[in-house]
Amino acid sequence: MKPDFDRIIDRKNTRSMKWDGMEPYFGENNLVPLWVADMDFKSPPPVIEALSRRAEHGVYGYAGSYNAYFEAVRGWMQNRFGWNLEQEWISPAPGVIPALILLINALSMPGDRVVVQPPVYPPFFAAVNNCGRHLVYNPLIEEQGCYRIDFEDLELKLAWERVRLLILCSPHNPVGRVWTKDELEQVVSIASRHGVFVIADEIHADLVFGQARHTPLAMISDQAAQNCAVLTAASKTFNLAGLQTSNTIIKNEKIRNLYWTASKNSGFARPNIFGLEALIAAYNEGESWLEELLVYLSGNYALLQNYLAEKMPSLKAASPEGTYLAWVDCRAILSRKGNPARFFQDEAGLAFNDGSDYGPGGAGFIRINFACPRPLLEQALESMAAALDNLE
Ligand SMILES: Cc1ncc(COP(=O)(O)O)c(C=O)c1O
Repeated sequence: MKPDFDRIIDRKNTRSMKWDGMEPYFGENNLVPLWVADMDFKSPPPVIEALSRRAEHGVYGYAGSYNAYFEAVRGWMQNRFGWNLEQEWISPAPGVIPALILLINALSMPGDRVVVQPPVYPPFFAAVNNCGRHLVYNPLIEEQGCYRIDFEDLELKLAWERVRLLILCSPHNPVGRVWTKDELEQVVSIASRHGVFVIADEIHADLVFGQARHTPLAMISDQAAQNCAVLTAASKTFNLAGLQTSNTIIKNEKIRNLYWTASKNSGFARPNIFGLEALIAAYNEGESWLEELLVYLSGNYALLQNYLAEKMPSLKAASPEGTYLAWVDCRAILSRKGNPARFFQDEAGLAFNDGSDYGPGGAGFIRINFACPRPLLEQALESMAAALDNLE
């Protein structure tokens, strides 16, 4: 049966951050939420069945048998990317950000520097700062809505004293770039030249559209594989983020052992049984659902793009090659409307992420999560257009 992505599911009173948890971020809870990156769709039926079966069992003791997990991750990576993983490279973690924090602590010292590429996912900034490391920015270059890496600047920054790590967001949240092999090769070669280890956050790897193709960083070359950790998850792909489960993939044995020690020492090594069940079912049986999802998301993006072009031509959306997040340039209305996220909150009752949270290059932008039923997206776009018209 085809998934019914058009169906609006009431998520209120489900302890959802997106629907019930707006107050701390927006000061109110009655907005139409197109912000934090989860989807308003049900997970694939095999996932729901696997979770129901496990819930029915009624005994929820510690997890301790991971063969089916390893096989599911290996099968998925082989099938989607042609990436042949050894079992020992993989370990489950309670999320990409927890794994990122463990890696920062394991592979650098307080006072060291970590490079990020803004505008980028804000928890990267917090992770680096909270670990007592210093952020170094290698801002992306934007030209007419298209983003690319500033390789000259990257070469300079990675040569700085005490730069130990580069956090690569691939595909990139929020600008939606799916880095090409050529771009990744350049990243690998610059990082290796300067002895900087790369943490590749590939949580959006499965959400790629059109001609774009995601390449896991470790597949670029053996040099790349030895010099990176790849963080992936089924959480964005199959809408499982609340189950707090991700995959850390590290080929380099020395680095892997450092990571493992950090993971055990912080008590993060044992995974959640529901997270494991969901991931196994999703990777083993969820592929056809994902293909349908990608078609639906492309349709939503086309709707958003066309709507902006026709009714709100002063706003421009970068064409996402990946992720379900539209990065919308509102700088043309900035002087008249002030902060655009605030403007659409106050005048249209909408919750978008404010671009200025994404660091340098983010001010004047909003991030719209378009992974919702199309009728909801249409309603949000109409409210946006009406708010702009009212003040025109
Ligand atoms: C790039 C990126 N990394 C990490 C995360 C969060 O991952 P987790 O919930 O597994 O910590 C997100 C969520 O939006 C994300 O977009």
